[in-house]
Amino acid sequence: MFRLSQYLKELINPTPLKPAPQMPGPVVIWNLIRRCNLTCKHCYSISADTDFKGELSTQAIFKVMDDLKAFGVKVLILSGGEPLLHPDIFEISHRAKAMGFYVGLSSNGTLIDENNIAAIAAVNYDYVGISLDGMQKTHDRFRRCQGAFDKSLQGIRLCREHGIKVGLRFTLTQDNVRDFPLMLQLMSEENIDKFYLSHLNYAGRGNKNRQDDVVHQMTRQAMDFLFETALEMLLKDKPQEFVTGNNDADGVYLLFWAQQRFPDKIEHLRAKLVQWGGNSSGVNIANIDNLGNVHPDTFWWHYSLGNVLKRPFSEIWPDTSDPLMAGLKQRPRPLKGRCGKCHYQDICGGNTRVRAHQLTGDFWAADPGCYLTDEEIFDVERR
Ligand SMILES: C[S@@+](CC[C@H](N)C(=O)[O-])C[C@H]1O[C@@H](n2cnc3c(N)ncnc32)[C@H](O)[C@@H]1O
Ligand code: SF4
Repeated sequence: MFRLSQYLKELINPTPLKPAPQMPGPVVIWNLIRRCNLTCKHCYSISADTDFKGELSTQAIFKVMDDLKAFGVKVLILSGGEPLLHPDIFEISHRAKAMGFYVGLSSNGTLIDENNIAAIAAVNYDYVGISLDGMQKTHDRFRRCQGAFDKSLQGIRLCREHGIKVGLRFTLTQDNVRDFPLMLQLMSEENIDKFYLSHLNYAGRGNKNRQDDVVHQMTRQAMDFLFETALEMLLKDKPQEFVTGNNDADGVYLLFWAQQRFPDKIEHLRAKLVQWGGNSSGVNIANIDNLGNVHPDTFWWHYSLGNVLKRPFSEIWPDTSDPLMAGLKQRPRPLKGRCGKCHYQDICGGNTRVRAHQLTGDFWAADPGCYLTDEEIFDVERR
């Protein structure tokens, strides 16, 4: 994840470069259930409204939680499918909170209503992320459900009314790029705490429909617009936060943007971005799927590192006998093609290996989602 607002703040009020804090354990995104009331066009988990067999029992989930805690994991993001369809979601969430985890809920928002909002608020989630992939018509088409937009927006409003920190998550594709400015406007009007722009990753239905991915020029325009909007809100002292995901070239593109806007802060920004280091799949991000399989991130469901029912997460995660994990944990990563030759590897970390793998079968090939030009990444003078 790229914390855009944090880096924009560094351009306005630079803070000293301190040694990077060591992450005790990865952020674990946990798909507790694969069932979902929607069948979105891009869904990496290929979820649908059906019962998926062999999912972890609640008792097994508790046992894994104990292992995660002992291993040093601090952050759990409870996801799905639709996690609110899990019969024990509140029991699991309360236990996670009581154990001291930072607990996020990742929901499509359509099932949040007057009947369950008190129970949701009672968990005291640290953050609730709700997906909105466009304005009404676009969102309903994208999420293949009429009325989904209204329900999700209602879910966002209810969360806000109950004092829950809430974020709007938007996955950018050709289907919704036109709505993007309106989404930022909606965020501002509704006083939503956070905006998460997610680039399309090539997994599940998102891989099947990867022809719908935006072309690089569209991504660049969207990012320019996002940077300008986030800066404007920051300068107006608005507390809203902007983050992006699934394209670590965003950090490099911000550096290029700042070269024009804040030329005297470039060295400082560069040092901060290098400290971030870009993609952290397999290092600071982990995924456990509904069956207990462990993956380097949520988009690697076609590649399993082991199953928590057979081997504890705390043993699976550090094991670098797996070639993908060995490469992901290596710095610099064993990148090839234009990623291997890029001058900005130290900022982006080689971006999204899933897209490279889906297109070429090679974990370390160039990421086709990198929207920086050859001139930008090979021209040493720009550094
Ligand atoms: C799988 S969903 C599960 C939680 C919930 N059902 C929802 O839709 O928010 C988690 C997040 O992943 C995003 N997502 C799904 N497939 C994706 C893909 N192929 N590329 C990027 N983001 C994706 C969704 O839009 C959503 O924000
Ligand atoms: S993206 Fe979320 S809401 Fe859409 S089908 Fe997948 S799990 Fe369900």
